[in-house]
Amino acid sequence: MQMKELSAIVDKKLDEYLKISYPEDIFKSMKYTVLLPGKRLRPVMCIESARMFGADLEDVLPAACAIEMLHAQTLIHDDLPCMDNDDFRRGKPSNHKVFSEAIAVLAGDALLTFAPQIILKNSKNLGSEKLVRIMEEYFQAAGAYGVIAGQVVDIENEHRQNEGENLSAEEQEKILHYLHLHKTGDLFRLAVRTGAIIGGADEKSIEALTVFAEKFGIAFQIADDILDETADFEEIGKTPGKDKISGKLTYTSLYGMEKARKDLNLLLDECEKILQDNRLKTDIFSEILRKVRK
Ligand code: IPE
Ligand code: IPE
Ligand code: MG
Ligand code: MG
Ligand code: MG
Repeated sequence: MQMKELSAIVDKKLDEYLKISYPEDIFKSMKYTVLLPGKRLRPVMCIESARMFGADLEDVLPAACAIEMLHAQTLIHDDLPCMDNDDFRRGKPSNHKVFSEAIAVLAGDALLTFAPQIILKNSKNLGSEKLVRIMEEYFQAAGAYGVIAGQVVDIENEHRQNEGENLSAEEQEKILHYLHLHKTGDLFRLAVRTGAIIGGADEKSIEALTVFAEKFGIAFQIADDILDETADFEEIGKTPGKDKISGKLTYTSLYGMEKARKDLNLLLDECEKILQDNRLKTDIFSEILRKVRK
């Protein structure tokens, strides 16, 4: 199956899971950002990590969709005026621009809790051992040890830079690595680990996929930082040039464009090698790596 087909299956299932109920505004708001056209990288990587160990698509689909819902939650909250203050997401007005800030905050909260409910309600086939394990993975990645940790450090650092506080290059390097690993890496880590656990992978493969996902997450955020400076609205579906204006610490602000491009390619080479050496390479993973490289 191609990436396009898998994304279409994910979209259909997300639509099914997100039924509009009372009070309608919250469900409409949740559904709005989830169903806008994103790349669906995380659910596809989750599915692929399960299928390579022989799992049925039906068994991994609930968790894959839940991870996309969690990703949408991070995007809704990331765009709020108190965070990155972005008016556009996935080519359309951000959630709070359409539904108000109050509803956007609540829609993010609702997705954060709706997603694990989707896993619990629809994954009875997995058995309790796998279920407990993937729920632990979910809460680790979603919470204060995961994406939230990365977002806190991102925002704190933005404030620090805007107040003119000077940090040494080493300190900035450490901070940048930490925030990339958590704000971005943790959801890719969650996606591949969840898939591999559902597929019944051996621990060595789970570990290899984990290292792969952490490197991939950092590479992906470097690419995002580069695109913020170089791409136009049509390409990224969000307002370009915001990182510099906001005073964000990014890979390009710290190391410059040339090194960012070089390190992005080196990291993607490492990602390919990990997959190759551990016999985890599939057409879909290769396609994803190619796309990020481009
Ligand atoms: C956006 O992620 C947030 C970052 C980690 C940079 P994506 O670039 O995967 O967003 P969508 O899902 O395609 O909209
Ligand atoms: C990505 O950070 C991480 C999350 C959204 C959690 P960014 O703030 O760089 O993402 P974009 O550029 O708004 O998509
Ligand atoms: Mg942000
Ligand atoms: Mg942002
Ligand atoms: Mg960005």
